[in-house]
Amino acid sequence: MVTYNDTLSRYVAELFAVEDEVLQRVRQRMAEHGVPAIHIKPEEGRFLQLLARACGARQAVEIGTLGGYSAIWIARGLLAGGVLHTIEREPERARLARENLALAGLADRVTVHEGDARQVLAQLSPRAPFDFVFIDAEKADYRDYYDWAVEHLRSGGVVAAHNAFLHGRVLDGTDANAEFIRAFNAYVAHDARVISTVFPAGDGIVVAVKA
Ligand SMILES: C[S@@+](CC[C@H](N)C(=O)[O-])C[C@H]1O[C@@H](n2cnc3c(N)ncnc32)[C@H](O)[C@@H]1O
Repeated sequence: MVTYNDTLSRYVAELFAVEDEVLQRVRQRMAEHGVPAIHIKPEEGRFLQLLARACGARQAVEIGTLGGYSAIWIARGLLAGGVLHTIEREPERARLARENLALAGLADRVTVHEGDARQVLAQLSPRAPFDFVFIDAEKADYRDYYDWAVEHLRSGGVVAAHNAFLHGRVLDGTDANAEFIRAFNAYVAHDARVISTVFPAGDGIVVAVKA
């Protein structure tokens, strides 16, 4: 039996998740500015874009902007007139993300909030309900962000979280992040407030729909 692997992943990416010139340029700009290449893969971006559109997202939140790469994929999935609030605590990264989003023609649809996610989420709370939330920051904080998301999503809204596999360490890694991700995945799997699973491509994306 052939199981999902890098070759099949590449097949899917080359067919469904081809980067346009803007996305290529944005990755290049991040490299030029010394930003670590810890952004999502195109295949994952396409999936987030699909999720945003499938749930009819008009109001979305992203925790962990980096240079704005995933924000571009998500924003392109929003319904017409939709907005994305993305949160980044590093000022240089927030500045670069704003530039990249302007380059992508998305400056009017995406707001980059500079600051700590917990504080920014508290400020965003009055705008609830949200339709879509993507979590891609420190693993220790995933559960708090997820609980905020479930609380502030409308029924049928979607929360997604990156690195469900933690590059394979989720199975038997002994480091703190492996423990955090194992506990987080189990928490979501047993959460009666949602219907959930893991999208098993890239580094795995936990996906939960609020019941
Ligand atoms: C993995 S990167 C995000 C990648 C991005 N989603 C992409 O795929 O293009 C995580 C980012 O989250 C930011 N971050 C981590 N903890 C944060 C916090 N508590 N508040 C705000 N930003 C945070 C980091 O500075 C980093 O730039």
